[in-house]
Formats: sequence, structure tokens, C-alpha cells
Amino acid sequence: MRYENIYRKSIENPTGFWEEQAKSIPWFSFPKKILSKDENGLYRWYNGGKLNTSYLALDYHVENGRGDQTAIIYDSPVTQTFRHITYRELRDEVAQFAGALRQLGVEQGDRVIIYMPMVPQVAVAMLACARLGAVHSVVFGGFAPHELALRIEDAKPKVLLTASAGVEFTKIIPYKSIIDEALAESTHKVDHVVMYQRWFKRTPLTRTNEHDWDELLRKATPVDPVPVDATDPLYILYTSGTTGKPKGIVRDNGGHAVALRYSMETVYNVKPGEVFWAASDVGWVVGHSYIVYAPLISGCTTVLYEGKPVRTPDAGAFWRVIEEHKVNVFFTAPTAFRAIKKEDPEGALKAKYDISCLRQLFLAGERCDVATLEWAQQLLQIPVIDHWWQTESGWPMLANPTGIELMPVKPGSASKPVPGFQVEILDSESNPLGPNQEGAVGVRLPLPPGCLPTLWEQPERYIQSYLSAYPGYYFTGDGGYKDEDGYFYITGRIDDVINVAGHRLSTADMEEIVAAHPAVAECAVIGVEDQLKGQVPIGLVVLKAGASISQDMLEKELANMVRERLGAIACFKSATIVARLPKTRSGKILRRVMRAIADGKPYTAPSTIEDMSVLDEIGEALQEKKLAH
Ligand code: COA
Ligand code: AMP
Repeated sequence: MRYENIYRKSIENPTGFWEEQAKSIPWFSFPKKILSKDENGLYRWYNGGKLNTSYLALDYHVENGRGDQTAIIYDSPVTQTFRHITYRELRDEVAQFAGALRQLGVEQGDRVIIYMPMVPQVAVAMLACARLGAVHSVVFGGFAPHELALRIEDAKPKVLLTASAGVEFTKIIPYKSIIDEALAESTHKVDHVVMYQRWFKRTPLTRTNEHDWDELLRKATPVDPVPVDATDPLYILYTSGTTGKPKGIVRDNGGHAVALRYSMETVYNVKPGEVFWAASDVGWVVGHSYIVYAPLISGCTTVLYEGKPVRTPDAGAFWRVIEEHKVNVFFTAPTAFRAIKKEDPEGALKAKYDISCLRQLFLAGERCDVATLEWAQQLLQIPVIDHWWQTESGWPMLANPTGIELMPVKPGSASKPVPGFQVEILDSESNPLGPNQEGAVGVRLPLPPGCLPTLWEQPERYIQSYLSAYPGYYFTGDGGYKDEDGYFYITGRIDDVINVAGHRLSTADMEEIVAAHPAVAECAVIGVEDQLKGQVPIGLVVLKAGASISQDMLEKELANMVRERLGAIACFKSATIVARLPKTRSGKILRRVMRAIADGKPYTAPSTIEDMSVLDEIGEALQEKKLAH
């Protein structure tokens, strides 16, 4: 009942509700207007409020007695490096690095791109930008140079921050050539590059505008937090959309801070001083919100883990970290649990560790299959909570709000709307549907604080991509239904976005790459079910007349092209040659139908299909290549 009451209040009186929540963070000046609209008619929270996110995350805690508490535990099994950083140490390093950035000419509103592995310096970089009121944009280290170049071109940063290398299991990934290639490709030129040298891979700096991180840090003078407007951007995070051009999701300062603090209390039920661990990467939204900002704003200790669930060194890696750092609440993607289950089906390695400190496990980032949820429940004997959100929302939209009340867990469901989110299942006319009817998942406007107010320098694209299809609603890109008890079930994306090992990727992006192969006349890339990674992409390719290339050679070449242009994380490994693709009479390729054929799911082919027999051909081609279930 507590949840129902709080939820109702948040929907009936959003301004009153979020005014109350805003009081929980230390503003320099409290907002004058809780909810308003900007010059593009888009909702904005906390206009007139002044604050600084790095102050909230660091200085405030030092001033209030948390200076000696550990802020970040850095745990890197891949480099055998382990470090505890207190709030005071982190504040001092961030202030100093902000000084270094300022010396390079970075001022409020300037953009800084961060392309770094999971080292504490990445959090220092983000918080230093926040301290100056500069806008950071972290690019996931698994993206290839072209993807980095696209983001540099769009964000137009003054400075690029990077490191000499990342580590994937035992493989060292040098960054310099990636950076050089991206900078050469981008038409926008950065003023400076700063490189953090890792001890196992020092890289010579070759240009006058390239700087050594530590040297710059030594020479800098610390700076104080710059008061910024609540509506000023804190960061841009690019995410895959339905075209090859990533979308620059903007996060503001005020709404973000209020929403994240609220989520730590109500969704994750974690208290200041407790240890929170999100095993993700700072390159994703989970890393932004729940490795860096939310735990620090809430005065928790966060774990920054440079390792994997398996083979670092074994499938007991997570249990080791939980025991060693006394993790209270843990968050990861279902793929991680599937990977552990594959290597240690009985979960036997857990017995080596005492993980009684762990109260709750949260899973998100992709659909959580019932078998994985139940395996985790049985193994851990604690609440395992599937919750649903996305880069755009920045924090959970559907969850079991364990800090308000732990509701019964229904496997397969991400539970109920979090206070502030009026989630509805919609038909094509924007009408809310009743229980057990499948439709598009929308959130009634206004979205609560913390969600994207717009796309970077593209308000019209924001309106067109998210607000136009279902008037009055924000369209999430997902499909789903709810049951009689109001529990929601997310069934998957209904656009061209796929989720591979919890990584969000665009099949349209991959199609652009595949289509560029000289032998390819046309193609479709679809995401099909995969036991470990949830989904993997496969290509269906029609050859140009007269093209002579073997199936194996084509597959190899296409896999290489996607790897080189998009990145290894795409996991594009399979392609099959087909005589033709199924299309409607107007020429629209029926990707969803092909996906259903591959997954062995029922489907209804539209009456406008050109020729039904092509579907049998596709089924046979997929069977032959063992790509269909
Ligand atoms: N930098 C460079 N390369 C990266 C990278 C990074 N940050 N992250 C992944 N890659 C590479 C991998 O090395 C791999 O390359 P390979 O084809 O040469 O082996 C490729 O991208 C695919 O990576 P991934 O899909 O992660 O597969 P994997 O076999 O390396 O690892 C798991 C499998 C299950 C262990 C891993 O996907 C995992 O830990 N998943 C958890 C999900 C998660 O944390 N998601 C974040 C969102 S919440
Ligand atoms: P990202 O923006 O990378 O966080 O990816 C967001 C997308 O991942 C969502 O739109 C969903 O398609 C999917 N997703 C995230 N969490 C869940 C979940 N708990 N259940 C089902 N799908 C999810």
C-alpha cells in the first residue's frame, strides 16, 4: 500500500512531489520554478536552481564528516591493482584535475570527450568536468575509431581524455592508434589530448598538443566547484538509435541529481555509508548513473571493477569482490549471470566466499529470462530484482521499489512503474491498453526529473524520435504488456535496436557497413536469440548479379568490416546469402518477420507482402546455416 500511495501522489501532483524531493540535495540556490517549458516547448525541471554536481558528490560529504570514508574501491583483477580512495582524496584529485583542464582552456559549457577504460581516473575526469560546468561525453572503449569520430564530430570537444590502454581478460588493447584514427577522420579538431599512462603500457606522446595526465595534474592548481544552472547539461551520452548516427542523450544537472538520490533510497534501498556495486562500464548509462554519480551523491562507497564475471580468474570473480568489499547491493546485467552459470552451473564457487553482506541483486540492461532469474534466486537466496530503464531515462522506470516496499517478485516482469513514471501500454492510436494486451511502451509526459530533456543540439530530432509517434507520450522503443496486478512485462525492442550482452547496438548501423561490401546488393541485419548474450546480430545478404564470392569468405569479410568500423562488441559473426529479402509491396524489408522465423516464434506476415514464398526460403537458409532455433 505504501508504494501505491506514493506512486499516486507522484502522478497526481508531479510538481509538489518533485519539489519535496528536491529538498534532499544541497542547492546553492533552490529552484524558482519546479517544472517549466523551454523555448522548444520541452519540459525542464528546476529552472532557476543553482548547484554543482561535483560539490554534491564530493565536497558536501567531506564538509559533513565523510572525508575519511572510502568513496571508490578500485578493483582490477586484470592488472592486479586494488585501491581505496576516500572522499577527501577524491575531492582533492578532482579539484586538481579540474584545474588541469582549465589550464587547457576548458570552461563552463565546453565539451570534453572521455575514451578510457575502467580506472579511477575516468571518474576523476567526469567529476572534474562537472566541477567546471563543462559537459563530458564518455565513449565506451569497445567502440572502433569511426564510432569515436562520429561522437567527436557531434560533440565538438575542446579536449579528449584517454589512457594508454584497456585490458580485456588477458588482452591489452592499446588506445593510441584508435584515438589517432578517430581524430584524423573527424572534421572537428580537438585542441588537446590528455593521456593517462598505464604502468604496463606506456605510450610515447608524439604531438605538441598531447599531454601526460600525471604531469598535467602535478602542475595544476585546484579549483572550486562552479555554480551551474539546474538545466545546464552535465553530460552527453551517445546511444544507438534506428539510424547509423548515434543520438546524443543530454543529462541536466539538477533533475539528474535529485532523481539519482531518490532512486538510491527508493529503488535500491541503499543507505549513505553502504557499499554499492554496479558491475558495468562507465561507457554505458549504468556506469554513469550507478558506478559514479548516484552512489557518490548518496554518500555510499562505490566499486569500480575492471574485470569480468568469468575468467578473471574464474566464475567466482563476483563472489570474491562481494566478500572482499562487503558489497550490500549489487547490480549487473543478466548476461553476466548467464556467463557464470555456463562455467559454473551449480554455482559451486560461491561456497568459497562469505557473501552474507549482500542484501539484494538488481538486473537490467536487457530482457531477463526466467531461467536466469530463478538460477540467481536459488543461488543467492536474496531478492533478485529485474528492473527496466534505458540511456534516455537515466534511472529506473519500472522496478520493485525495495526502499518503499518489497513487492512479490514475478519472474519475467520488471515489476511496476517507479514513482514519477506513468508507464502505459499503447495501441497505434496512442490509446492505453488494458491488461494482457501487447503494445508499445510509452511514458506519459512530463517525464520525471533525470530523464533526457532533449538531444544534443537537435531538439527537433528529439521530438521526432520520441514524442511524435504517440502524442502526449514519450515512446521508449520497447514493446510489452501488463498483467491484472499492474506488473509490466517488456518483450523487446520494436525498432531496429538490439541488445548484445547488455550492449545496445543499432542493426541499421551494421546494415550500412554490410551494404558497403562490393559484392552486396542489399541486406538486412536482425538480432536473433542467443543463449549467452541474449541477442546477436546476423546478416541476410543478397549478392549483386555476377558477384562471385563464397559464403565463408563473405561472412569473414563482413565480420571484419563490422569489427573494424563499429567495434568488436557488435559480435557480428554470421551472415548468410539469400536469393531475395521479404518485402512489402512498397519495398519495406520485413525484419521483424525474419526475426520471428529465426527465433522459431509465431508471426503474422502482413497482407502487403510481395510474395509469401520468400519466407520459406529465408527459413531454409537460416536452418541450413544453423542460425534458426
Ligand atoms: N574495450 C575493447 N574491447 C571490448 C570492450 C572494451 N571495453 N568490451 C568488449 N570488448 C570486446 C571483447 O574483447 C570481445 O572481443 P573479441 O571478439 O575479440 O573476443 C568483443 O568486444 C565482444 O565482447 P563481449 O560481448 O562482452 O564478449 P566477451 O566474450 O568478451 O565477454 C561476457 C562475455 C558475458 C563476460 C561479457 O559480455 C560481460 O561481462 N557481460 C556483462 C554485461 C554488462 O556488463 N553489460 C553492461 C551493461 S549493464
Ligand atoms: P540502454 O539504453 O543501453 O540501457 O538499453 C535500453 C534498452 O535495454 C531498453 O530500451 C530495453 O530494450 C532493454 N532493457 C533494459 N532493461 C531491461 C529489462 N529489465 N527488461 C527488458 N529489456 C530491458
